[in-house]
Amino acid sequence: MLKKRVTILLTSLFLPLWLAAMPLDAAEHGNIEAGKKIFTYGVDDRIPACQKCHGSDGMGLGAVDIPTPRTASQIYTYLLKQLTDFATDRRTDDVMHQMNRIAKGLTEQQRKDVAAFLHAMKWPYKGSDLARLKQDGKKIGDPERGRKIVNFGIRERGIPACKVCHGYDGHGAGRLYPVLSGQNYLYLTHELRSFRHAAKGEQGYGRHNDFASQMRNVAAKLSDQDILDAAAFLTGATPPPMPENPEGRGVE
Ligand code: HEC
Ligand code: HEC
Repeated sequence: MLKKRVTILLTSLFLPLWLAAMPLDAAEHGNIEAGKKIFTYGVDDRIPACQKCHGSDGMGLGAVDIPTPRTASQIYTYLLKQLTDFATDRRTDDVMHQMNRIAKGLTEQQRKDVAAFLHAMKWPYKGSDLARLKQDGKKIGDPERGRKIVNFGIRERGIPACKVCHGYDGHGAGRLYPVLSGQNYLYLTHELRSFRHAAKGEQGYGRHNDFASQMRNVAAKLSDQDILDAAAFLTGATPPPMPENPEGRGVE
């Protein structure tokens, strides 16, 4: 009995590590060329081109009011998980109400193909233009305080450093933890509020597709100011190192 309990405990503790270390079978890879076609032209009349909303460079539409994410060079397995989560309604697009229908309309292979293409888009990282967003009347956080939250956490309030999971300066880690540095400011604040919303069981949609509630547990403790500050830092944080290989991390 005790042995069984210890095994369950060990499995739940180490499952994320095990998943993160799992090698990708070559057959699991998407086809980058096929993905490029979906991104650029969509599929028939059914699926709109991804570039319409994520930008022709995959950098998202951060400068306007609609927070669509930067998807260029994001971790392949993370992208694929999001597309699968949208397809199975584990995650809901509550911004433009399109992603669920789009992901459902793609076959599993097409989701792999387009995720591989997004991952292979190796543009320089440049985050949102905070000065311009401020001019537009958006609340902008304090990046210096945000840097401390991301890399050190807030110990007295039990907030772990984001770095523990997302890597230094939000560079991303393993196969589960997305790159946050260079991500759109408005998108970052929207997702953090959405995780917090779900964690608190508030009415309406909240994001709850994170492995073992990892992200909800953190977001539940963040104040509005913490969210603005962390996002203000992350959008302009040092970019992750660019691998020489254009297919890079995650599709290797
Ligand atoms: C009508 C606009 C629109 C189109 C077209 C669109 N997207 Fe999206 N996409 C969004 C929005 C808005 C979100 C954020 C939703 C949210 O916050 O829950 C998103 C989120 C995503 C995410 C999650 C990213 C992350 O960091 O978690 C991925 C991956 C994605 N889209 C891929 C695609 C692909 C692939 C296509 C084309 C087949 C596509 N999108 C077409 C609007 C769009
Ligand atoms: C215990 C691990 C853990 C910690 C600590 C953590 N996160 Fe996360 N975070 C995750 C996981 C896992 C996901 C991906 C959820 C999924 O699979 O959809 C995520 C996703 C996110 C996303 C959504 C990214 C996207 O592209 O949609 C944001 C934003 C985010 N985290 C910000 C933060 C911030 C800011 C902190 C620190 C205050 C933090 N995280 C700390 C585990 C963590």
